[in-house]
Amino acid sequence: MDDLIKAAKAARTTAHAPYSKFYVGAAMRDEQGRVFGGCNIENAAYPQGWCAEPSAIAALITAGGKRVTEVAVMGNGDTLCTPCGGCRQKIREFANGDVKIHCCTEEGKLIRTFTLEELLPFSFGPENLA
Ligand code: THU
Repeated sequence: MDDLIKAAKAARTTAHAPYSKFYVGAAMRDEQGRVFGGCNIENAAYPQGWCAEPSAIAALITAGGKRVTEVAVMGNGDTLCTPCGGCRQKIREFANGDVKIHCCTEEGKLIRTFTLEELLPFSFGPENLA
């Protein structure tokens, strides 16, 4: 878990959040054990900004990763920064319900770990379309 938190912390330092000033770092592990970080990227046209989680997912998928097997997220200070609703669904596309999501402080201290199932119960996923 330490490498994941480290990557999220490093990614957070690159966040582009001049409007909210809420800097988020996320990291995702793929099925090969590789770790990918991502940050939130806001936009002067506010709704065009996006969260840290899709940045990390984009890096993982672009590198050929297929599954998300573990996640770490951190926001400002000690705030519990759980993935927003949209991010939960984006993670769900590539993750099973038992995937752990570690929510940490800005310094990388673990606050609480959730499973994706806890954060997104009775979810709709690719299997629903099979
Ligand atoms: N944010 C994330 O990056 N991930 C989340 O799951 C929660 C919210 C970002 C979006 C926006 O840039 C800032 O935090 C304030 O909402």
